[in-house]
Formats: sequence, structure tokens, C-alpha cells
Amino acid sequence: MTAASIDGRAAAAALRERLAHVADFFHASTGRQAGLATVLVGEDPASGVYVRAKGKATREAGMQSFSHQLPADTREGDLLDLVAKLNADDHVDGILVQLPLPAQIDSARVIDAIAPDKDVDGFHVVNTGRLAVGAEALVPCTPLGCVHLLTQQLGDLSGLEAVVIGRSNIVGKPMAMLLLGESCTVTIAHSRTRDLPAVVRRADIVVAAVGRPEMVRGDWIKPGATVIDVGINRVPANDGKTRLVGDVAFDEVARVAGAITPVPGGVGPMTIAMLLRNTLVAAHRRAGLNLPEGL
Ligand code: GUN
Repeated sequence: MTAASIDGRAAAAALRERLAHVADFFHASTGRQAGLATVLVGEDPASGVYVRAKGKATREAGMQSFSHQLPADTREGDLLDLVAKLNADDHVDGILVQLPLPAQIDSARVIDAIAPDKDVDGFHVVNTGRLAVGAEALVPCTPLGCVHLLTQQLGDLSGLEAVVIGRSNIVGKPMAMLLLGESCTVTIAHSRTRDLPAVVRRADIVVAAVGRPEMVRGDWIKPGATVIDVGINRVPANDGKTRLVGDVAFDEVARVAGAITPVPGGVGPMTIAMLLRNTLVAAHRRAGLNLPEGL
């Protein structure tokens, strides 16, 4: 391995420590803790793990966590009623409805119902639009985490060639917008892209967010490139158990790249740290307070 391994756990821990100070200051200034409401519908084990981790991190940062769990057969109208209640609750600064939702619920309608100033996932079309035009927005957590790791590793990203593989609303598209905001030359590649390896070979920065285990190979990578792996895929291991791998063939790519995020321990921890950050950003804006330096 020649590439530096980008330590997302360390970066997230450092950020969370700073955010805890900001949360204390918010509490002292306003007389209340910033609050994040999470909503989990159904029993999906992976979603349950994620939502509990988000609640724990919220409390550890000195914020209030309101967790709502609804049965898998919840009707869309009942979920919309809960969202309306959370929108109106002054103690709630951020609302996160964990996706995916059960089939009887239209996710787009639910996301649309969240007050844009409490939309800490940054999924509402108002925030998507604000990000696109460069206005003040709440920005999706995973892409924010990726940019944090990239600027920490590389400093100024201006002028670099970035290839984002994947065009989802949650990662690919906002990632491309953020990189454009950093003055990168941005390409979004996807399942219909012709000669994907050749496109990726142009990149100084590769962000892989496709959900296909170890798809990005070593011979796709320009020597010295920085590779950010957003994928979290569970695959069979040799011992009959399972293991987590990213969208990048780590060992191969690490022989060529300049720096690479591991899975686990790369982008994943940054996503939760950025959720805490977005909750504090929302809390400050709602309270009419200036955001502290560096938030
Ligand atoms: N499901 C997987 N990732 C996410 C996320 O970032 N936010 C929400 N709300 N649901 C998810």
C-alpha cells in the first residue's frame, strides 16, 4: 500500500469535540439545548442501528434527542401528522426521517412536509435548490463529510478534476454541487456512462457512491489521486460470516492512489458528525444567532 489511509474516525471525533463546545455555548446563550428529532418507521435492523447511533451521538454532543418509532404498517397520514407536530415544536431544531420508508408511504411527500429550516438531511427541494444556486442551505450530511475529508487532506480543491460515480439525490448530485462550489471541474458518472474506467482515470478526486461492492478497480485510478469511498456493502466472508466492503477495491486502489478512505472508518463516521453540525446550524439560524467560526 502506498496511499495514505484517511482516518474518518479521527476526523469525526475532532469535529464532534468542537461541536460539543458549540452546543454548550448555544445552551448557555438560549437557555435550551439544541434538539434533533429522529423518526424510524418499521423494524429494519440496519436502520435501527443507524438511528440509535444518531440519537446517542446527539446526546453525547450535549443536545436533546427526541426519538420516535412507528410500526411498519403506519399510514402516510399518521407520519405526516407527526412531521407537522415536530415542525411546530420549538424544542426541535432538526427533523430526520430515516429512509427507506415502507412501501405504503411516499418518501417524497414526507420529505416535502418537513420544514426546510429543520431539514437537517438537506433532502427538501428548497434546500436542494438553495445548494444549487449557492444560497444558504442545509446540505446533505454524507457529501458534507466527504468534502471535509477532502479539504483536510488536500487543502484547496480549486481546479482539480473530480469524478463522482453515482447520481443519487442523497449523495451523488449534492456531492457534485459541493465540489463545484469548491471550484473543481466536476463529472458525474453513472450506470450508463461509456468507458467508466477511462473517465475515472482523468480524476484527481474520485468519489464512489454506487452501492456496488469493490466496483472501482486499481487500474482505473490516476497515480496519486484521492479516493473517497461512500459505499457500505455487506458481502460473504471466507469464514461463513459477512464483512463490510466499499464500492472501491481497497487493496488494489491503495497501491495506486495518493490517499483513500477505508470502509469502515472513512466516510461513515463523518456522516453522523455532519448531522450534529447541521442540527447546530439549524438551531443557530432558528434562534437568530450567528454561526460560530468554522461551523
Ligand atoms: N438512510 C440512509 N442514509 C440516510 C440518511 O443520511 N438520512 C436518512 N434520513 N435516511 C438515510
